[in-house]
Amino acid sequence: MSAPTTTTTELRDDFRPAFHYAAQDTWLNDPNGLIFHDGLYHLYYQNNPLNSVWGNMSWGHATSTDLLNWTEHPVAIRFDEHEDIFSGSIVFDRHNTSGFGTAEQPPLVALYTSAYKLASALHGTQAQSLAYSLDGGYSWRKHAQNPVLTRNTPNFRDPKVFWYQGQNESYWVMVTVEALEYRVLLHKSADLLNWTELSSFGPANATGGIWECPDLFAMPVDGDPENLKWVLTVNLNPGGPNNGSAGQYFVGDFDGTTFVSHSTVTEGMGDGTREHDYQWLDWGRDYYAAVSFSDAPDDRRLMIGWMNNWDYANQIPTAPWRSPMSLARELTLRTVDGQPRLIQQVAFGSGAEPEPVSTFTLPAREIPEGTEVLDGAAGTVQRIEFSLAPDSAGEAGVVVRGNGTEGTRIGIDAQRGMLFVDRRESGATDFHESFASLDVAPLRSLDGSYELVIHVDRCSVEVFAQAGLLTMTQLVFPSAASRELSLFAAGGTATINNLTVTTYA
Ligand code: FRU
Repeated sequence: MSAPTTTTTELRDDFRPAFHYAAQDTWLNDPNGLIFHDGLYHLYYQNNPLNSVWGNMSWGHATSTDLLNWTEHPVAIRFDEHEDIFSGSIVFDRHNTSGFGTAEQPPLVALYTSAYKLASALHGTQAQSLAYSLDGGYSWRKHAQNPVLTRNTPNFRDPKVFWYQGQNESYWVMVTVEALEYRVLLHKSADLLNWTELSSFGPANATGGIWECPDLFAMPVDGDPENLKWVLTVNLNPGGPNNGSAGQYFVGDFDGTTFVSHSTVTEGMGDGTREHDYQWLDWGRDYYAAVSFSDAPDDRRLMIGWMNNWDYANQIPTAPWRSPMSLARELTLRTVDGQPRLIQQVAFGSGAEPEPVSTFTLPAREIPEGTEVLDGAAGTVQRIEFSLAPDSAGEAGVVVRGNGTEGTRIGIDAQRGMLFVDRRESGATDFHESFASLDVAPLRSLDGSYELVIHVDRCSVEVFAQAGLLTMTQLVFPSAASRELSLFAAGGTATINNLTVTTYA
């Protein structure tokens, strides 16, 4: 977390997203306590209730039915003189194993990290604490005997809890990190109060930064319920594939005690140079601290990430709020080249799809060399879908949020086999020296063509490539008047197929 510096960039509210959560007038970082309960998606989050930079960490709270429109509620769990409330998760304790509710009124239980402050006798340590709610997640009481799990270490945090349904035994499992050791720890409990250690995992694959905000869940491979694999996600900061904060994942098995990874790259382990061999949740610079929902309907695995990067998080030019969340994503596992890989699609909850203001389509056609503005396809909040064959062009793609002088270029570098997002001229970039960037991700064509779905909002682009096999999430801060959508090809011509632009604003 870098300290705020002064910047000449104007802070603006018109970056406020249409379909992403951002707090009304305060700071947020990690999503916490994601749970679907009583018909509502609850999003708690790291929040500074007093300011729009990091500090006074508390759990803010918002709810949604459709995962697009969110209602902010009062702060759920607030910092005090003894502790900051760091990241964690919420479970519905439906059998009242914790005893904080009754059989008729079972509690929601939050496990969070107590980051102890100077006034606390535990200062210098981080430990896992518990709070519970008997009113569906709006008011929370801290357990009197917190913490419930300590190792007396300074960077033990970010508990993600789930119910493990074993062949012989079932229990709660808590997934945490010893952040500076690049280790995920697993503990078990019958009552959410008494925890015993099961095992640990790591270091493995990307260790270019401390490990934070882990998650562990089972999913069918290729939709086959007989073939379950476990996915362990770990966020790390820095050390992402395009610098700074990012998330990686491992696919393997979990027998109730130990997670065994099948996607660990052993050669060169820990040197931080094998980025292309690791599995990333997202290749962009602004998808961090991603965790999944508990109890999502229909066994869906839904995930939200914080759309920011600790490299410049406190300086992005938004006010009076700072940082949006990503769109929610649905995760599935599909076999690709013999390996189970995560596939991600934008997820919607229930409720009407938002009404577009316009839809623009283009039949298959050549993109001539150069840049061409598409009349009738302008907007600031859009979903842009197409497939692209680079043909003779070295690079081809689209420019979003353009105005002739600024714009974000999203395209394919055919020679290098790369997807790229170039935000060097995307609008305001000078608020931090590391923001302006050309970011890349290795992407193979399918029969010479690339399928992209791009979600554009007032300060972001989220690219889903090859049907969700690879994603790239980037903040951008264009002027509100930058609404043009263009096609471009460089070094030759390309073909664009089935372009559909759905514009919401
Ligand atoms: C990740 C993180 C977590 C911690 C929280 C504090 O962004 O550093 O590890 O719990 O943010 O706000």
